[in-house]
Amino acid sequence: MNNAHPESVLLQPQDDGLPMSAWGRWAKDKLDVLARYIETSTTAMASRKMYWRRRFYIDLQAGPGKNYVKGHPDDVFLGSPLLALTRGAGYTDYRFVEEERESVEALRRRCSAFNLDSSQTVRIFAGDCNEIVDDIGEEVNQIDRPPFSQTDWNSLCLVFLDSQGLELNWETVLKVASLKRADLLINFSTMGLKRTALLALELPPGEARADKFFGTTEWRDIPLGLRGSMPVYEWIVFYQKRLTEQAQYQWGTPQSVKNSKGVELYRLLFASKNDLGIELWEDARTKGPSQRLLF
Ligand SMILES: C[S@@+](CC[C@H](N)C(=O)[O-])C[C@H]1O[C@@H](n2cnc3c(N)ncnc32)[C@H](O)[C@@H]1O
Repeated sequence: MNNAHPESVLLQPQDDGLPMSAWGRWAKDKLDVLARYIETSTTAMASRKMYWRRRFYIDLQAGPGKNYVKGHPDDVFLGSPLLALTRGAGYTDYRFVEEERESVEALRRRCSAFNLDSSQTVRIFAGDCNEIVDDIGEEVNQIDRPPFSQTDWNSLCLVFLDSQGLELNWETVLKVASLKRADLLINFSTMGLKRTALLALELPPGEARADKFFGTTEWRDIPLGLRGSMPVYEWIVFYQKRLTEQAQYQWGTPQSVKNSKGVELYRLLFASKNDLGIELWEDARTKGPSQRLLF
């Protein structure tokens, strides 16, 4: 890979010599939906009288900022934090969390090329998002202290939760869900669950990663399907139902992300407490080039 990293390419979908992650082509489809949501919501917020104190883009599993298609190092595409920076002109505050040191350094370097205006902030946290979420939540809550007037509302957050597997604790999701106004885009790893669930069921209740992911051992009570098939969709519905009950969310239509053989790898779940959030999600989801992935 290219060893030079001139400023001009740091925010472009080009090799800049810094570390990148390698993913299957499907990762582009996932990020395409995110980019469309960012653009659609940014346009909507600019065109209406919206008096948010701040607009946060919060990415709890941010990666290094750039990716390439596995086996095709020249096919480079921007990761979620750089998409938010370059397409989400309306955000005032960006909060990125990543636990791999090398990815954090690459992300810092890339973000340094972004021209912030005086009202914007970018903070990059190195470490486990299940711990760092408290600092971010506290910051948003500090900003959103009353009193509120008709033209001075709380902050609006878009939280992107992009797990590879089941590394996100249920409590972490609940913490962001407890912010006054946070829309959640959750990349639910259907494949991650399939890979780990049967093994998890063999562990004593409470000791499997999946128990932390669901925040309960009750997911274990959902019966397996015919010939022992995994009830993945029932698990997803169970997860959504719990968030609705515990944080009063409503859900947009899920978006399936499949591999070239048509097998679902991920399901993008969008949750909002507000009708407009859902409306914007449906708009972004159905207008994208990823329509071939809709089901
Ligand atoms: C699917 S990748 C994210 C990709 C990124 N959103 C993008 O668009 O390029 C998941 C990332 O989360 C990081 N990660 C995994 N567990 C984490 C944790 N508990 N806290 C913070 N980061 C974590 C991984 O190192 C990896 O970079």
